[in-house]
Amino acid sequence: MKAIVVTDQSTGKAGMKLTELPRPQAAINDVVVQVYASGITGDELSWPSTWVDRAGHDRTPSIPGHELAGVVTDLGYGTTGLSVGQRVFGLTDWYRNGTLAEYVAVEARNLAPLPDDVDFTAGAALVMPGLTAWQGLFDHGHLQEGQTVLVHGAAGIVGSMAVQLAREAGARVIGTGRAAHRQTALGFGAHEFVDLDNDNLENIEKVDLVFDVLGGDIAKRSASLIRSGGRLVTVTGPTDARPANGSTIDFVVEANPAQLNEVVQRLQEGRLRTNIGATSTLDDAVATFNSTNRVTGKTIILVRP
Ligand SMILES: NC(=O)c1ccc[n+]([C@@H]2O[C@H](COP(=O)([O-])OP(=O)(O)OC[C@H]3O[C@@H](n4cnc5c(N)ncnc54)[C@H](OP(=O)(O)O)[C@@H]3O)[C@@H](O)[C@H]2O)c1
Repeated sequence: MKAIVVTDQSTGKAGMKLTELPRPQAAINDVVVQVYASGITGDELSWPSTWVDRAGHDRTPSIPGHELAGVVTDLGYGTTGLSVGQRVFGLTDWYRNGTLAEYVAVEARNLAPLPDDVDFTAGAALVMPGLTAWQGLFDHGHLQEGQTVLVHGAAGIVGSMAVQLAREAGARVIGTGRAAHRQTALGFGAHEFVDLDNDNLENIEKVDLVFDVLGGDIAKRSASLIRSGGRLVTVTGPTDARPANGSTIDFVVEANPAQLNEVVQRLQEGRLRTNIGATSTLDDAVATFNSTNRVTGKTIILVRP
């Protein structure tokens, strides 16, 4: 099968190569999925899971990209819950070969059925932002109706999903980003927008939750904007930022079929939009990922166009 592999962490995306590999086999409780659409999460080439297995042993060449929509072709020994020919979407294990390939072996428990009226491109585009936003807002952020949330990078891939889900949950949403992002963030449903280059972040009202995708100094400054007992949730790794009498949580998104069902249902009902910036084929994916053209929104690789 065709697959994209990486072998050397120091080369980053420039080291991606399109190659031929054997088709994966379905292990116990796995399925093999023929990948129709695939996505990669921004930071995953810097995560250890791309390079070593859980015991710390080199696992290169590894196939990156852990977001997928496709069709089940094989069931492993003892696998239940899914059937051959079923349309699915989901997030694959960070420590296994990923989805920038024609086929991937994945635990059935990581996948949800993809409804017939949702195309593979939209399905793949929902996975990482949908799960990350849901887990950040609700599992880790404990966001409640009537609360106020500050969503950084509100026009971006994760941020735009967080804005929509938070607004729908009845929260007041303050989005941030660059000056040029104002209309996009408001279009996704932010009530208010703070341009981080020109506005003073410290002028906003106190918030119950900060959903951070930027880290660094912005995360630190945001901690002081949180009401007593509130939370700072970040997806950018460990931070010293601490709200007074509150908590800071940094997390990596996990597979969760029930949450995929929630977000895809919202998409079907027109209550949620994907944020797709570009599509490409597997043959052109390496060039697309290394292009100097700045893409706003998710890049989806149409593995089987
Ligand atoms: N831990 C996890 O599980 C997890 C999951 C998903 C994503 N992530 C990480 O979360 C981060 C965001 O991911 P994403 O896919 O949402 O990326 P993205 O689409 O690029 O979103 C980031 C947004 O923030 C804006 N931005 C960046 N720096 C800014 C600054 N200094 N001031 C104002 N706006 C700024 C970006 O604008 P420009 O495009 O103009 O720069 C973009 O609109 C990445 O680091 C990604 O790897 C982590």
